[in-house]
Amino acid sequence: MIEHANRRILLVDDTKANIDILVETLKDDYKLGVALDGKKAIEYSHANRLDLILLDVLMPGMDGFDVCKRLKENPATCDIPIIFITAMDAPANKRKGLSIGAVDYITKPFDISEVKARVKTHLTLKVIQESLKNKNLILEEKVKERTRELKETQVEIINRLSLASKFRDYGTGQNVIRISYLAEMLGRQAGLSPEEIERLALSSTLHDAGKIGISDNILMKKGTLTEDEWMLMKEHTTIGSRLLANSNSLLIQEAQIIALTHHEWWDGNGYNRGLAGEEIPLIGRIVAICDVFDALISERPHRAPWPVEKAFQEIQSRSATQFDPRLVKHFMEMKKDIIDLINKTD
Ligand SMILES: [Fe+2]
Repeated sequence: MIEHANRRILLVDDTKANIDILVETLKDDYKLGVALDGKKAIEYSHANRLDLILLDVLMPGMDGFDVCKRLKENPATCDIPIIFITAMDAPANKRKGLSIGAVDYITKPFDISEVKARVKTHLTLKVIQESLKNKNLILEEKVKERTRELKETQVEIINRLSLASKFRDYGTGQNVIRISYLAEMLGRQAGLSPEEIERLALSSTLHDAGKIGISDNILMKKGTLTEDEWMLMKEHTTIGSRLLANSNSLLIQEAQIIALTHHEWWDGNGYNRGLAGEEIPLIGRIVAICDVFDALISERPHRAPWPVEKAFQEIQSRSATQFDPRLVKHFMEMKKDIIDLINKTD
């Protein structure tokens, strides 16, 4: 049993006698409002929360059809069900009334019990629709919340994993953050979509995840690596790729691509597969520049950090050999923003 006692109905008719009959018919069951012309009906509809309107058609000034159209056009009032109640009983009028958005059309002289029954039916429908809408809103909110939680968990796991790889290297969490920002900026400059940029900011932090699998005496060695040691060091790309393989997550799939390709060179002289030019995935080419630039301006056990200007010159000098020339151009265009970033992250 649906309770309607608090539902408010607006009665619109220019003939006071008709209003009186409707008030008498409905006053015991609902809250009622009254308007004697179309303009007042619209004003009342905006000033009060309405559940139904009983609307006369023939009125001086704005007629019922115009009132109905105006209310249906406005998002604030378009959901209020409207029942026309009129002496205009021609089928064409009825068709018109229903076509402009009314839920029902009652002709005068009306039967009181018929008006009561139709009002009750349409109010019940409105209550059910509202309840469904609320349930849908609650469900949508729950889905959003779950999605947010999943995303936060994903971000946290990625951050912890990238930190784990940096524990084994000279780099720090700060380097990971800086490479992530640089990749985000370069990705934007290169024309990636907002979603791609958002993923790149995270996936780029896992570029060296494979260093987890490189032994300490190679990773921490102060002097130059022997050829054999260097061969093993290069394996961090394939180890990272194996670590991130077979994921259903697009983010992890892209992280795998970056881990595998961030040491490839534009001219084909990089590792691990010797890819060249656009054979190297764009995200791998982007992280390649950011990784080298970050390494140059960072302190290492065997050398001081390079001055920023010298690091930019070095990136420029490796354009079209190590790096994608188009991306180097974009990188140089962002020089001022990159210097601001370095000042913030140092
Ligand atoms: Fe690397």
